[in-house]
Amino acid sequence: MSLDLAVLVSGSGSNLQAILDAIEHHRLDARVRLVVSNVAGVKALERAARAGVPSVVVSHKDFPSRAAFDAHLVEVVRPAVANGYVVLAGFMRILTATFLDAFPRRVLNIHPSLLPAFPGVDAQKQALDYGVRVTGCSVHLVDAGTDTGPILAQAAVPILDGDTRDTLAARILAQEHAILPAVLQWISEGRLTLVDGKPRFSGVVPALGLAPLER
Ligand code: GRF
Repeated sequence: MSLDLAVLVSGSGSNLQAILDAIEHHRLDARVRLVVSNVAGVKALERAARAGVPSVVVSHKDFPSRAAFDAHLVEVVRPAVANGYVVLAGFMRILTATFLDAFPRRVLNIHPSLLPAFPGVDAQKQALDYGVRVTGCSVHLVDAGTDTGPILAQAAVPILDGDTRDTLAARILAQEHAILPAVLQWISEGRLTLVDGKPRFSGVVPALGLAPLER
């Protein structure tokens, strides 16, 4: 069944683009019903406009508290995705229970590390500073913690000598753009269940990791 999506962004929106491209090329059976940015003027909003997707800016700065911002976000997002999923694609705000309880187990995030390593901001720099030789990205369900919810898929990338934050971020992004649409497609195929709170995908799931994920 085609999946209704709301995508929340704060910046470049390359993951939003990966979703839009996957839909256009029939690798993802979904519709992006709404893009919400908490920052005006970002490239993600241009990408939405180019794809003909409605978008709205809801600045957290216009609200007196996190709860008030989250409550307003619910009002904006719920009509767009009554039964669909909310994707945090580079959305740089922590969402509270006010928002999460409105979409139980239906909020996904993409994070640029192999969680539970390096949660929070600038995961790529955290990995470089620590000196790990392998890092990657994770798609997970969002819970009340910071990057702590059940992990749906991960892909690994090597850290190479001479890497900078930007070269590493680009290598990770290429994998983000593969696994995020892939996970959404498995969900749209009705293959996700939670067993004792742990995600399980029925059927064949391609090996995740360094290999391309195209099916
Ligand atoms: C990605 O690295 C994502 O994992 C992180 O923020 C970045 C967003 O990139 N949460 P983009 O806006 O999708 O290009």
